[in-house]
Amino acid sequence: MKVIIRKTSEEASLWAAHYIADRIREKAAVSDKPFILGLPTGSTPIGTYKELIRMYEAGEISFKNVITFNMDEYVGLPESHPESYHSFMHTNFFDHVDVPAQNIHILNGNAPDLDAECAAYEAAIAQTDGIDLFLGGVGEDGHIAFNEPFSALNSRTRVVTLTHDTRVVNSRFFDNDFNQVPKQAMTVGVATICSAKEVLILGFGPKKAAAIKAGVEGPYTHCITLSALQCHEHGLVVVDEAAASQLSAETVSYFQAVEEAEGE
Ligand code: GLP
Repeated sequence: MKVIIRKTSEEASLWAAHYIADRIREKAAVSDKPFILGLPTGSTPIGTYKELIRMYEAGEISFKNVITFNMDEYVGLPESHPESYHSFMHTNFFDHVDVPAQNIHILNGNAPDLDAECAAYEAAIAQTDGIDLFLGGVGEDGHIAFNEPFSALNSRTRVVTLTHDTRVVNSRFFDNDFNQVPKQAMTVGVATICSAKEVLILGFGPKKAAAIKAGVEGPYTHCITLSALQCHEHGLVVVDEAAASQLSAETVSYFQAVEEAEGE
C-alpha cells in the first residue's frame, strides 16, 4: 500500500485525475484493448471527475476506449431518482465525456432478480481482461463501495443491508430524512475491488481520519474493509491533510520519503 498526502482535497483530486489519465494513456500507447475502469459515487470523487472532464474538454484525454464498472447502487430507488447512482454518474461524469453508452456498467437496483443481476455483473467483469484500476471512496466506518463492516474480505457482487450509521450519513442526500434512504444496496465485493490491477481509494476531510488510520495502520480485518488494501500489490490511498490527521508522524514521514525518492 502507498499513501499519497496532499494539503487540500482539491490538490488530492487533481493528483488522482492525472494518475488515472496517465494510466489510460499508457495502456492506449501499447495496446488496442480497452482500459477497464471501476468508478465510485459520493461527494469525494467529484473533484476528480471535474478534472477528468476538464482534461477531456481540453483534448488531453479520451474515454472512447474505456469500459466502466460502477461500484454500487441502491436497491429499489428508481434510476431516474436524483440520488440514484445512475443519476449521479450521468450528471457528474458520463454526460460530459466520450465513454460510449454501451461501455457503461452500473448495477440495476430494480432488477427482477437481484442475485442474478449481481452474478451477471461479475460475469461481465470476468469477460474483460480484468479491471485495470478501481477508483473508490471510503465511508466514515471504513467501508469501500457498500462493503460495510463485517463484509467478507473475499466477497463478490451481492445485495447488502446498509448499516444504520451509513443511512444516517447518506440521509444528507435525502432531505436529511433517514427514512428515505434505501435499506439495501447492491455492491461489488471487497474481492471484486481487490481483483483490480490497481485500487485507488480517496479520503478527504476530518470525518474520514479515523477510517484512514484504521485502514492504513490498523489490522487487516473485515471490521474495516478499507484494510483489504493491505493485501493488494498496488493499493493507493490518496488523502488530504485533514483525512491524514490521525496517521502517526512515522507513517506520514515514511510515505513522504517514498514520494521524494520515487520523484528523484
Ligand atoms: C457511500 C458509497 C461509497 C462512498 C461513501 C463515502 O457509502 N457507497 O462508495 O465511498 O458513500 O461517500 P462520500 O464520498 O460522499 O463521503
